[in-house]
Amino acid sequence: MTSYETLLVENRGPVTLVTLNRPQALNALNSQVLSELLEVTRAFDVDASQGCMVVTGSGKAFAAGADIKEMQAQGFADMYGHDFFAGWDQFTRTRKPIIAAVAGYALGGGCELAMMCDFILAADTARFGQPEVKLAVSPGMGGSQRLTRAVGKAKAMEMCLTGRMMDAAEAERAGLVSRVVPAAELIEEAVKTATAIAGMAPLAVLANKEMVNAAFETGLQQGVQFERRLFHGLFGTEDQKEGMAAFVEKRPGQWKGK
Ligand code: CAA
Repeated sequence: MTSYETLLVENRGPVTLVTLNRPQALNALNSQVLSELLEVTRAFDVDASQGCMVVTGSGKAFAAGADIKEMQAQGFADMYGHDFFAGWDQFTRTRKPIIAAVAGYALGGGCELAMMCDFILAADTARFGQPEVKLAVSPGMGGSQRLTRAVGKAKAMEMCLTGRMMDAAEAERAGLVSRVVPAAELIEEAVKTATAIAGMAPLAVLANKEMVNAAFETGLQQGVQFERRLFHGLFGTEDQKEGMAAFVEKRPGQWKGK
């Protein structure tokens, strides 16, 4: 296990398990968390032995937001001049899949980090919210955009304007999370899901992630065209031949990643 100051990082077979580790601040996301997370994520993305990442927090908090104490004294020139939070965009450019395994509070930047992952698996204890309005600010890591795309305008607007939290059941109904599992099984279930993804043909995984994400960035016609071109492209891979042969021969596929 490699230890960073704010993260615990562990390889569970082909899965990189990253645990946010600032318990004294409920895993509030400061600049150090960002820089350590980017370092781990970049290494994960180029490590051929790793196929999927899980980001999690503690039982009490996935992350209770960006670090309020770090931001408190900053002025407009500091925030705008340094494009504060822009580094998080790099996290979203990771090509391999990342699952957020959320228990407890995922508030503000914590909710935003979970939404930057490819999907969210929630413990039944999870609570999501964008309470920045109570601090006289707003989401700044993409929450107003990603939450609105995930749950629609009505819920996103209510949550951003009131700071109200959603529990896990509501988050699942609203489409914010893919599934809810008992808190005691969260990590096991997330690692199991990540292991299944890591066992798929690597290029097909990249392509599937890219095309689902395109649904957020493009119109329907363009998105369908993008999907079809990537689908066609996968027929140029050895793994496509292997995958279809394995199906016909009723055996598991053996992937080469090419
Ligand atoms: N930043 C810095 N420190 C934080 C923090 C945050 N976002 N959230 C919690 N902490 C710290 C607390 O200050 C406290 O530290 P001290 O012991 O030194 O006082 C410690 O973590 C434990 O927190 P509480 O005592 O408050 O724990 P609680 O169980 O009573 O309450 C909570 C839990 C409801 C999550 C509460 O901590 C809370 O409301 N936190 C702030 C939530 C929030 O406003 N998040 C948005 C931040 S702004 C943002 O994220 C901007 C953006 O868009 C990116």
